[in-house]
Amino acid sequence: MEGALLLAGRIHRHVVEWRARRPALVQPWAIPLRAAKGSPGAQPNGRVALMRLLILGGTEFVGRAVTEEGLARDWDVTVFHRGRHDALPGAAVLRGDRTEDGGLAALEEGEWDVVLDTWSGAPTAVRDAARLLKGRVGRYVYVSSGSVYRHPRAAGVGEDAPLVDGSADAGQVEYAQDKRGGELAAVEAFGDAALLVRAGLILGPWENIGRLPWWLLRLERGGPVLAPGPRDLPLQYIDVRDLAVWSLDAAERGLGGAHNLVSRSGHATMGSLLEACARVTGSDAELRWTDPETILEAGVEPWTQLPVWVPPGDLHTTLHQGGVDKAFAAGLRCRPVEETVADTWEWLKSRGRVAPQRPDRPRVGLDPETEVRVLG
Ligand SMILES: NC(=O)c1ccc[n+]([C@@H]2O[C@H](COP(=O)([O-])OP(=O)(O)OC[C@H]3O[C@@H](n4cnc5c(N)ncnc54)[C@H](OP(=O)(O)O)[C@@H]3O)[C@@H](O)[C@H]2O)c1
Repeated sequence: MEGALLLAGRIHRHVVEWRARRPALVQPWAIPLRAAKGSPGAQPNGRVALMRLLILGGTEFVGRAVTEEGLARDWDVTVFHRGRHDALPGAAVLRGDRTEDGGLAALEEGEWDVVLDTWSGAPTAVRDAARLLKGRVGRYVYVSSGSVYRHPRAAGVGEDAPLVDGSADAGQVEYAQDKRGGELAAVEAFGDAALLVRAGLILGPWENIGRLPWWLLRLERGGPVLAPGPRDLPLQYIDVRDLAVWSLDAAERGLGGAHNLVSRSGHATMGSLLEACARVTGSDAELRWTDPETILEAGVEPWTQLPVWVPPGDLHTTLHQGGVDKAFAAGLRCRPVEETVADTWEWLKSRGRVAPQRPDRPRVGLDPETEVRVLG
């Protein structure tokens, strides 16, 4: 109760200060988002003091990183969620369930410069939120996915690659169609002010799929490790914190449209990833590089049983060779794989080596018996 009162007071104070600072505005988002150097309200870095960011979600992995980044910028951050996960201290909280009738009631009032939506289920949930917020939010950032492209996707092709079908009015079907439907829902309500962040594989602290955590724990266990080759197989992924930085920068600058958000292919390789895992865990592991044919003949599933890895071929081209020039031209920076691995390890250790697991995603990793069998 006391916490709720404190929070209400904080929100009210923010609103009052915000209005006092910008009395002449018709629409809060109609102002230039960066104050000129030396002008009233400008910080030394040229940013205006306050952007109001609403995150639909915001407490697990991607949304959590965006919340953290928003708070680090001194933005006014609000998260909307059911309350099954803890919100970060410093973020205002609105509660509701997007799958229930009337579940968006807490969003019926309020204005924000940017909303970021992390939804990956039925497109109707994005549609309903976007429609409700239209006219009260400047920009709708939808965390989409490279899965919206038809498979196979040619190497290096950008955002013009053919897409799967989807509908803003659809219930939950398959992941790819759901994500495409979510994109259409955001565009339907916000037009050019919808920013579609087509993320590829996402790694980093708070990962709740278990891919990098599995490799880290496997390398820490040591001994002979089934290392899926070739060792120089190029990888493409994004550190969740780089996604957060780019998305908020892009939203602040008023960017819209679809952007593939992932590193350049070869930013890391299977070798550099696993060797970084071995280094940070202080492992005595012996990486036994194994050719793809041996692994596939043994019935081992790429991507799920050996996370991140897919053999060279169509699937690798689709998942690890997307075109990313547009996002890089719009400022994307990707930190080195060593940093992603080291920070994820520190985080995992701080949690007693137990990674969170999304209940709606399959567990990843290979059992020790199968590994021994494949290694012979
Ligand atoms: N992992 C990858 O490699 C990858 C790759 C490409 C794209 N993506 C995309 O990245 C996004 C991942 O986002 P995330 O899950 O990490 O985001 P997140 O915002 O950190 O977590 C999901 C949030 O949704 C809230 N939530 C869940 N069900 C809800 C409901 N019914 N009503 C209201 N709130 C609800 C959860 O809080 P409560 O539980 O407290 O309600 C939580 O805050 C997805 O859109 C996914 O498609 C992921």
